Amino acid sequence: MTSWNVDSWRSMPLLQLPEYPDQEKLTQVENRLAAMPPLVFAGEVNELKSRFADATAGKAFLLQGGDCAESFLEFSAVNIRDTFKVMMQMAVALTFGAACPVIKVGRMAGQFAKPRSSGTETVDGVELPIYRGDIINGMEFSAQSRTPDPERMLQAYHQAASTLNLIRAFAQGGLASLEQVHAWNLDFISSSPQSEQYTNLADRIDETLGFMRACGISAENASTIRETSFYTSHEALLLPYEQALTRRDSLSGNWYDCSAHMLWVGDRTRQVDGGHVEYVRGIQNPIGLKAGPTLNPDELIQLIDLINPENEPGKLNVIVRMGADNVEKGLPALLQAVEREGRHVLWSCDPMHGNTYKASNGYKTREVSSILAEVEQFFAVHQAEGTYAGGVHFEMTGQNVTECVGGARTVTEDHLGNRYHTHCDPRLNADQALELAFMIAETLKKCRKLRAS
Ligand code: PEP
Ligand code: CO
Repeated sequence: MTSWNVDSWRSMPLLQLPEYPDQEKLTQVENRLAAMPPLVFAGEVNELKSRFADATAGKAFLLQGGDCAESFLEFSAVNIRDTFKVMMQMAVALTFGAACPVIKVGRMAGQFAKPRSSGTETVDGVELPIYRGDIINGMEFSAQSRTPDPERMLQAYHQAASTLNLIRAFAQGGLASLEQVHAWNLDFISSSPQSEQYTNLADRIDETLGFMRACGISAENASTIRETSFYTSHEALLLPYEQALTRRDSLSGNWYDCSAHMLWVGDRTRQVDGGHVEYVRGIQNPIGLKAGPTLNPDELIQLIDLINPENEPGKLNVIVRMGADNVEKGLPALLQAVEREGRHVLWSCDPMHGNTYKASNGYKTREVSSILAEVEQFFAVHQAEGTYAGGVHFEMTGQNVTECVGGARTVTEDHLGNRYHTHCDPRLNADQALELAFMIAETLKKCRKLRAS
């Protein structure tokens, strides 16, 4: 294998990168970013990797979630708070179901760049570059807005820094208290049209918290009840940005991408000989690899050889996103190949990206029932193969949007136009995300019982 360097990706085939018309400006921005403080630190990245190692061994469960694409327009403290809050609520339900720690990783503080199926868009006979996320160009359909502008990377960096600052404050003070989060869950349940489905789980959490309080363990005296760890992640797509934030740790001499704790490679950029895989193979961060229906077992093993040659537990998270109809067909061969080769993989399920379709009114959407079906099949296949279903990956928001159809307060295709705010793919709203978490908690509980018997 050729030697890696922080810019060795530049000589490989590269997909999904924008063409910047002004190369000089691009270099200036890269240099400015390279001089900015890191957003995350090596120690935190190592900590997340060791928690991923626990999940790989079946002793923890990963909850990854947030926007499909963060945007400059939707940037506000309220949006960050509400997504954080829903993830905490989901994590409580999942912790109870799985009876193990839930690792919380946001698609936040850097999830800006999007892979697209076409490079251009034509409206009324005018062809312009496609929108690739606010870190690259603007959504508005005009030549000026659609021209990739390197300055946008600086704005994205500053937005990521402020977002992370708020997340750190929420995780350390107040918004993470288990008692508080449980109280929000009780509010959600009491107003849900399907409340009877969830009361059993909520009652048991209530009793447990009461028992702990009676034993003298509460938010006032136990930091584990009051605080949490919350990590950030995004797709490592825009490599000039990632390279500029890649730093060498002075203690170990190792390279870390300090733009987020975890990075993933998308389904469209995971070529064995491509620049994206080349970049991630040299950094210490835990790496996600999206696995769509076209990934075959040999290719997966080749990718594992590249990304995790030392077979380090916690290094690699394969995020399966095959679509509800393809999991039973496609997943067993991947699990069997990894088992046969003795590789350590944390398997998680992204039930979003394989279940997108266009509604008759033109909106891109997803059905909550297909999302749940994909998760359930993912668990069932792992159960049958004797492997561990270690996590879930959602596109979601704390806002009351109407982007995915279904759920207890049913969103129909006719409602999609009411509050369709996403800058890319349709997200679960707060209620839909919580409903799914409660249902998955029940599945986790069943799997746990089966494993123990
Ligand atoms: C995403 O996670 O937003 C995404 C584009 O996913 P995938 O690469 O799996 O299509
Ligand atoms: Co998406």
